[in-house]
Amino acid sequence: MEQHIEPFKVKVVEPIVAITREERLAAIRRAGYNLFKLRAEEVYIDLLTDSGTSAMSDSQWAGLMLGDESYAGSRNYFHFEETIRDITGFAHVIPCHQGRVAENLLFSTILAKGQIIPNNSHFDTTRANVEYHAGEARDLLCAEGKDPGTPAPFKGNMDLASLAQLLDEAGPARVPLVMITITNNSGGGQPVSMANIRAVSALCHERGIPLFFDACRFAENAYFIKTREAGYADKSIAEIASEMFSYADGCTMSAKKDGLVNMGGFLATNDGDLAEKIRGLLILMEGFPTYGGLSGRDLEAIARGLREVLDFHYLQFRVGQVASLAEQLHAGGVPIIRPAGGHAVFINAGRFLPHIPPQQLPGQSLAVNLYIESGVRGVEIGTFMFGGEDPATGAPRQAAMELVRLAIPRRVYTTMHMNYVGRALLDLYGKREALQGMRIVKEPPFLRHFSSTLEFVESGGSVTEATVSS
Ligand code: F0G
Repeated sequence: MEQHIEPFKVKVVEPIVAITREERLAAIRRAGYNLFKLRAEEVYIDLLTDSGTSAMSDSQWAGLMLGDESYAGSRNYFHFEETIRDITGFAHVIPCHQGRVAENLLFSTILAKGQIIPNNSHFDTTRANVEYHAGEARDLLCAEGKDPGTPAPFKGNMDLASLAQLLDEAGPARVPLVMITITNNSGGGQPVSMANIRAVSALCHERGIPLFFDACRFAENAYFIKTREAGYADKSIAEIASEMFSYADGCTMSAKKDGLVNMGGFLATNDGDLAEKIRGLLILMEGFPTYGGLSGRDLEAIARGLREVLDFHYLQFRVGQVASLAEQLHAGGVPIIRPAGGHAVFINAGRFLPHIPPQQLPGQSLAVNLYIESGVRGVEIGTFMFGGEDPATGAPRQAAMELVRLAIPRRVYTTMHMNYVGRALLDLYGKREALQGMRIVKEPPFLRHFSSTLEFVESGGSVTEATVSS
C-alpha cells in the first residue's frame, strides 16, 4: 500500500528511553501484570491509547496563550461553541473535561432503571455509565463486524434488522435513546457508513426515539466514508461530517481523540430542554457552562484541534500509518482485524493464542508478553475488559472477541517507531506456543481492567520468564 509522508515536521521533541528486559519484568510484576499500573517511563512505545496522547500543533500551543480564564463567558468558550456548532450543526454545546462525563450527564438525565440503550458497540465507559444507571447496554453490531478475518468496508455498521426488532418490541418507553459509536472502537475502530447512519436515523425517528453519536473519532469515520462509500469521493471531510451529524439529535464526544488535545470533551444536542437539564447537572459536577471542567486555554486548543482534524492530508497520513502497521503484521501471518481501524490495529488474540481459553484472558497474556519482550504497551479488549459478572445473572461474561489493541497516538510516532512495533509482534508470534493464560487475583466491581491484579495460570509468576526468554 502507498505510504503517506508525515504532513508535519517536528518542532519539539520528547526523549524516550528503552529500559532492559529484566527491568521490564520487574516492573510488570510490581504492577500485578496490569499494564495500566506501570509507570509511563517504563514503557518504550506507548500504544495503550490514542486518547489524550496527541501531539498538539504550533497553532494549538499558540492558542493556549490566548486562554481567557474568566469564570463566566470566556471568549474561548464562544470560539469552542461556534466551532462545534459549525461542524456538527447542533445548537447547544456543553463542555466537560472528558467523554465519560458527557456520557454520565446524558444517562443521568435520560435513562431510567431497566431501559435499554442500543449501540453498534458500547465502549467500556459508555457501557459502565449505562449499567451504573441500572440500564441495559445492548450491542447490535452487524454480522461483518463480528467476523475479524474477512475484510469489509464498514464493519462498524449497526445491525438494522435487530435494531428494528428491538425498537418494535421495546418501543420508546423502554428505549430512551439509540447510540452509534463512530468509529466503533470496541469492535476494531471500524467505520459506520453514511447509508447505515441514515437508516438508523430513520428507524429511530419514525418511532420518535432520539439518535446520539458517540463521536470521539468522527473525522476518521468521515475519512472512511470519503474513501470507501460511493458518492463521497469529491466531498470534503467537513461536508461529510456535517451530513453525518445532520442525521443525529446530539452527540457525546471525547475531544482527547479527534479533538487533537490532551484533555476535554463535550455534549452537543439540538434538544433545548435536555441541554438545560444537563447544564444544571454540569454545574454540580464539572463547573459553570462556559468552562465545564476545562480551562479557557483548553477550550481554545479543542476549537483549533477540531478544525485541524478535518484536513484530508492529516487523515490520509493518520489512517495510512495505522494501515501500514496492519499490513506488516498481516504479511507476517499475525491474525488481525481486517481492514485496519482508523486509530488502532487490533490483534486477534483468540487466534494468536488458540491454546488459551477466553476465561484465561489470551489478550492480556499477549499484551503482557509483548511489553516484557519489547517495551511496547497495548491494551487487552476482550474478556478481561468486558468479562466479569453479568449484572443481571451474576454469571461470568465472555467478550465477543479476544483482542489486543495497539492504538496509535496522533502525530506522535514515526515510521521507524511503527516498524519496531511490527517487528516486536512478529518475534512474539514466533514464540506464541509458549505463552500461557492468566487469571485475576483481585478485581473491583466496575471497569476491572484498570485496577485488577493478575497472575499467570501455571506458576503464579511470569511464564514468559521461564519459557519465552530470549
Ligand atoms: N467513547 C469511546 C468510543 C471511547 O473510545 C472513549 C475513550 C470514550 C467514549 C470515553 O472518553 O476517555 O474522554 O472519558 N476511549 C479511550 C480509549 C479511553 O483508550 O479508547 P474519555
